[in-house]
Amino acid sequence: MSGHGTPIPMTSHRSGPLTGVAEVPGDKSISHRSLILGAMAVGETKISGLLEGEDVLDTAKAMQAFGADVVNHGGGNWSVFGVGVGGFAEPENVIDCGNSGTGVRLIMGAMATCPITATFTGDASLNKRPMARVTDPLALFGTQSVGREGGRLPMTIVGATDPVPVRYEVPVPSAQVKSAVLLAGLNAPGKTVVIEQEATRDHSERMLAGFGAEISVEDTEEGRVITLTGRPELKPQVIAVPRDPSSAAFPVCAALITPGSDVLVPGIGLNPTRAGLFATLRDMGADLTYENEREEGGEPVADLRARYSPNMTGIEVPPERAASMIDEYPVLSVVASFATGKTMMAGVKELRVKESDRIDAMARGLRANGVTVEEGDDWWEVTGLGIDGVPGGATCESFLDHRIAMSFMVMGMGAQNSVSVDDGTPIATSFPIFTPLMTQLGAKLETAA
Ligand code: S3P
Repeated sequence: MSGHGTPIPMTSHRSGPLTGVAEVPGDKSISHRSLILGAMAVGETKISGLLEGEDVLDTAKAMQAFGADVVNHGGGNWSVFGVGVGGFAEPENVIDCGNSGTGVRLIMGAMATCPITATFTGDASLNKRPMARVTDPLALFGTQSVGREGGRLPMTIVGATDPVPVRYEVPVPSAQVKSAVLLAGLNAPGKTVVIEQEATRDHSERMLAGFGAEISVEDTEEGRVITLTGRPELKPQVIAVPRDPSSAAFPVCAALITPGSDVLVPGIGLNPTRAGLFATLRDMGADLTYENEREEGGEPVADLRARYSPNMTGIEVPPERAASMIDEYPVLSVVASFATGKTMMAGVKELRVKESDRIDAMARGLRANGVTVEEGDDWWEVTGLGIDGVPGGATCESFLDHRIAMSFMVMGMGAQNSVSVDDGTPIATSFPIFTPLMTQLGAKLETAA
């Protein structure tokens, strides 16, 4: 697991044109949910294209620990033999979710209304992250929890023996919190209602409906109201996991800032709750087109074509777009460094509680590489230096955060001097083939032996 091993530095050298086809791995959010919902269905769910990153593999192990049978057939093809809603067994050991906030929060929700007790832990990054945002609403079902000071892992969850349905307005824009409450609601009798003010990624809602749960979504004056009827029998599914737009962001952004590049990233889900980065890049003047637009598994999908874009300009990123690109701000800040003018990113407080404080981590590394960054509690602004103007040359800390490490590797491809990170191992949590994939496009990445 990343963060438990020896840090391995990585360096990205200025690259020639990046060209070719970048087949990025399966979507991380959908991969976690496929395993968890598969474990809560009755019978065999077949998954193809599962992301085999460390985060998802930790969730697979956890589902096994809760009594589901999880089988890896190779090549991204997996089966989950589920135990049914309310059928989780008590794990014999501590559940280690590694680096994954999504994994731990969704699994806590899924077991919270089962009459079992489980203890969760993670790596140094995950054990710093706030869990009260999940355990507070779970308490409304009758679930108990004891963790470290500030609601941090390791934490023990005592599932409700006699759960009641809840009505909960999510106080922060978080798909993880929303999903934890919905998964807990599955084993509560009656209707569980979750209300969100800003639409966050809606994979849980779509997949719950796909698994046969009774779920409705309504946009009202109160917000986005999701109503789930508890105690369904979930029917096993055949799931083809689409490729991850958050991983696609890296080859796309790298192509935009590297002279002569022309990269095709096929089969990327453009679910509006996930595609904010691509709209933002186009607003900045990026040569990014959607080819072969189609629908797959009820989701809009396209092949993304990104070409070198020397004339991008900074913009004010609409704050209402934040939830749809929350994981992409680090790499956007790299592109913003290569644009002219300022890029303002506001309404992004949540970035401070991700795998790292992403505003702080990026600001430190960007400044070390010669870029001016100003920041406040929930905003930051990057002053672009133009396509040829980024000095680079520094080593940045990746703070056990895959997206910080990959963002600085992208920066090195277009900067005047090489850019390094102190530790590239976290990349394996979400994008295990990042280095071979980027190298095959023409990137010059070097991993310390
Ligand atoms: C995720 C939700 C987001 C996102 C994370 C994946 C999910 O987190 O940052 O990478 O799959 O539900 P928050 O719920 O904390 O916003």
